[in-house]
Amino acid sequence: CGIVGVVGNNNAVDILMQGLEKLEYRGYDSAGIFVNNAKGNKNLIKSVGRIAKLREKIGMEVAGTAGIGHTRWATHGQPSEENSHPHASADGEFVLVHNGVIENYLEIKAEYLSDYPFKSETDTEVAVALIAKFANEGLSIIEAFKKALHIIEGSYAFALMDENDSDVIYVAKNKSPLLIGLGDGYNMVCSDAMAMIRETNEFMEIHDKELVVLTKGNVEITDYDGNKVERDSYIAELDLSDIGKGTYPFYMLKEIDEQPSVMRKLITKYVNEDGSMNVDPEIVKAVQDADRIYIIAAGTSYNAGYASKRTLEALTDTPVELGVASEWGYDMPLLSEKPFFIYLSQSGETADSRQVLVKTNERKIPSLTVTNVPGSTLSREATYTMLLHAGPEIAVASTKAYTGQIAALTFLAKAVGEANNKSEAFDFDLVKELSIAAQSIEATLSEKELIEEKVNEVIADSRNAFYIGRAEDYYVAMEASLKLKEVSYIQCEGFAAGELKHGTIALIEEGTPVIALISNNPKVSAHTRGNIMEVAARGANVLTVVEESMAKEDDDIIVTEVHPYLAPIAMVIPTQLIAYYASIARGLDVDKPRNLAKAVTVE
Ligand code: G6P
Repeated sequence: CGIVGVVGNNNAVDILMQGLEKLEYRGYDSAGIFVNNAKGNKNLIKSVGRIAKLREKIGMEVAGTAGIGHTRWATHGQPSEENSHPHASADGEFVLVHNGVIENYLEIKAEYLSDYPFKSETDTEVAVALIAKFANEGLSIIEAFKKALHIIEGSYAFALMDENDSDVIYVAKNKSPLLIGLGDGYNMVCSDAMAMIRETNEFMEIHDKELVVLTKGNVEITDYDGNKVERDSYIAELDLSDIGKGTYPFYMLKEIDEQPSVMRKLITKYVNEDGSMNVDPEIVKAVQDADRIYIIAAGTSYNAGYASKRTLEALTDTPVELGVASEWGYDMPLLSEKPFFIYLSQSGETADSRQVLVKTNERKIPSLTVTNVPGSTLSREATYTMLLHAGPEIAVASTKAYTGQIAALTFLAKAVGEANNKSEAFDFDLVKELSIAAQSIEATLSEKELIEEKVNEVIADSRNAFYIGRAEDYYVAMEASLKLKEVSYIQCEGFAAGELKHGTIALIEEGTPVIALISNNPKVSAHTRGNIMEVAARGANVLTVVEESMAKEDDDIIVTEVHPYLAPIAMVIPTQLIAYYASIARGLDVDKPRNLAKAVTVE
């Protein structure tokens, strides 16, 4: 979910709506705003579905000088108007937006609010009810808020208003991201900086368990006991350009097409003019000092971590372990003596990844965030950052960030290998090889028609499908199947080709699509061919994606040759296009698939 608030600006509605549109990547199940002004005009408007729907509902008449807004990715309760934010207290006096999950909301309900007339199933309404209860018992709004904050447990970013007071927004956070934006004669609060950048580039951080009283001319930060906190603001260099769709029907296709230029951009960022690696020497040193690298990520980024494992291990001589962020937050396995953590996250906002970072920070473990979003939460809180320089990724299904992550980690691997004087690292001409990979991507992109045809023939009408591959192709198969599921809703599994026969092959029926990935790895390609025969013998409709030197006459999609370290980058491109065209063939909204959010900001 994403939240935004503004105080002291005649265009409050416009600022809130622009902010919500930028925050839609955090969820788009429902949205709402509350605005008021000094004349006592107040409006609480909510709508199920996209921000555009809310915009229609608001129309031209609604105006205000202060307000709060929210876009939701449903957690407690289905997407409905009752469950969407802002939530008002029963008497209408207090209005609250919330991002996060209140863990003890049922206990709070039972202990303090047994008679309260709840309208929704949300944990958020419990919070606003609790504040209202304390206010009705005679506390001022700030004291009531503080008292509630001492009771509430879990993750939250809150923005609270009194419906009759258009001069103040009360803000608090724990674990969920939230930033203050300083405007000219007004102030804002928001889940991320990008959503405020049209208004300001001056920001102020809020730390966990801090309370902020925000007025148009002042930002007062205290802890929950009322002790004042001094904090300087900072200027962020963020760029709003490049987020148009141009002539493309969907962002996903535009972003798939941008990948060759992302690869070339990364060369300019991570290579010096003399050809040496331009990776922060402190990061290189930190990896050299480690006895194990732990990569923590979710979704596509997790798959990118796997796709980078071999290269990192080969060039840094350091074992690499992958961790699913949502699992490692509560159950950190036994770590090595000198761990180094890499947080891979396109958005830099994923709450699951952040919860692990909080833990490793507590243990003072050095960390690196590899992200596409400068100034994002994970970037701010890790020891080091490497950027993907991929430009904003708007489509919910990640494409250019995946290939960008693999490339960025390859630069890191080579830099560390060179620092260790490893000949294999010096011999690996990454500038040349990544340029070849960019050309390979271009060659695949020129085969869109062929790929669309194959999709329509073999996949689009199917209920389920499989991707199979061995070694790095298996890792790509995991990402390929995730992509197909996300945007086409075809149930799909990415399988280690040799493992399929140990059970899952029972699902192969006449016509089941099986897409086999075969990159240039002679150790495994013959075996994958064998697995193709096994599924074909049971009626599967096989589609092959094969790197050139391994190709046979009747293979379907040929990928031009790249260095083995970069094979996942080249091999994933056809699978991104397969997912895209399957979604198109099924008439779906490619960029905003159902149930998803670009970044999930709750654990
Ligand atoms: C969400 C998105 C996925 C994404 C994952 C991790 O679930 O829908 O596409 O891969 O979050 O996001 P991150 O920004 O941390 O890479």
